[in-house]
Amino acid sequence: MKILGLETSCDETAAAVVIDGSKVLANALASSLPLHALTGGIIPEVAAREQAKTIIPVIKEVLRSSKALGAEATKNGAQVEQLNPNIDAIAVVFGPGLIGSLLVGVETAKALAYVWNKPIVPVNHLIGHLYATWLNNSSPPKFPLIALLVSGGHTELLLVSDHGKYKHLGGTKDDAAGEAFDKISRLIGLGYPGGPAIERSSVSGDSQKFNLPRPLSNSPGYDFSFSGLKTAAVNLVGKLTLSGRSLTTQEVADLSASYQEATIDVLVTKTVKAARSFQAKNVVLGGGVAANKHLRERMSASFNGTVFYSEPAFSVDNGAMIASAACFNYKPIPWRKIKADPAILF
Ligand code: KG4
Ligand code: ZN
Repeated sequence: MKILGLETSCDETAAAVVIDGSKVLANALASSLPLHALTGGIIPEVAAREQAKTIIPVIKEVLRSSKALGAEATKNGAQVEQLNPNIDAIAVVFGPGLIGSLLVGVETAKALAYVWNKPIVPVNHLIGHLYATWLNNSSPPKFPLIALLVSGGHTELLLVSDHGKYKHLGGTKDDAAGEAFDKISRLIGLGYPGGPAIERSSVSGDSQKFNLPRPLSNSPGYDFSFSGLKTAAVNLVGKLTLSGRSLTTQEVADLSASYQEATIDVLVTKTVKAARSFQAKNVVLGGGVAANKHLRERMSASFNGTVFYSEPAFSVDNGAMIASAACFNYKPIPWRKIKADPAILF
């Protein structure tokens, strides 16, 4: 089955064509990240306007490069592109995410499904991140598995016992891990997006230099909380700069390494605890924060089994993971019934 996947839940405009949920024929995205770097974070209206401009070019790009628009027709002597592409279905993210951004993808998908007369499959963005590990992978994860989906908006633990069988074990009570990375990064002058900047800076830092809290680490259950950790880091920076001086480069690196270590400690402790309790065969890391190499290494060293994470191109928001999720959970619904839902969880 060949599916066109669309993802516009946050700042990216992404599309891909994927066969049988795994083989990626084409994957493209337009990111408005440079615009958000200027303001130190995403302004939803700016993101949605960029997506409205880029969605059709991005879709055309993947249809052309996957040869889904390959056969050309002749009209009045002129060559025109085939109008109805050679795909079986359209998959689109309906939530969670920013409402303006979601609407661009959802309404475009509905219009195309109507014009092309194709089935349309709505996909949950977070479930999409889970399926990033199925892409271009001939030995995908085995069930039951524990998925840690950790991004700018979410920090969620899921027990997945089969395709379509998800149990939400817990999530963040306040800030998402990525969101807290972004805030601390801005505070210590590393800019946006914060996660990759903190990861780079931490390489020359000492993760034991500052003792930061590990909130809810040993509490029962599977919820997370990052606002206390964030406040502790804010207070520490306040103390270090009390005399009006700026942080030194070494202090920034030490703060980065200590903050990253505290976040990763909590993520690894809770995930491994869940994996043991539910006798998971595998752990899957998904979402933007799963791109963090230190998180990947620590999780692999702590879990007695294989930890899956996606290729870098599929760790960020992308259309291929959406096409894959739709293939393994194939439930098309009439285009009229599809609605963007910014606050949906699972
Ligand atoms: O999944 P994603 O691309 O978009 C959302 O759905 O939010 O995640 C973006 C988040 C940002 O907060 C960014 O700082 C974080 O992922 N991130 C990272 C890394 N790369 C991206 N956090 C830690 N380490 C990284 N290498
Ligand atoms: Zn995401």
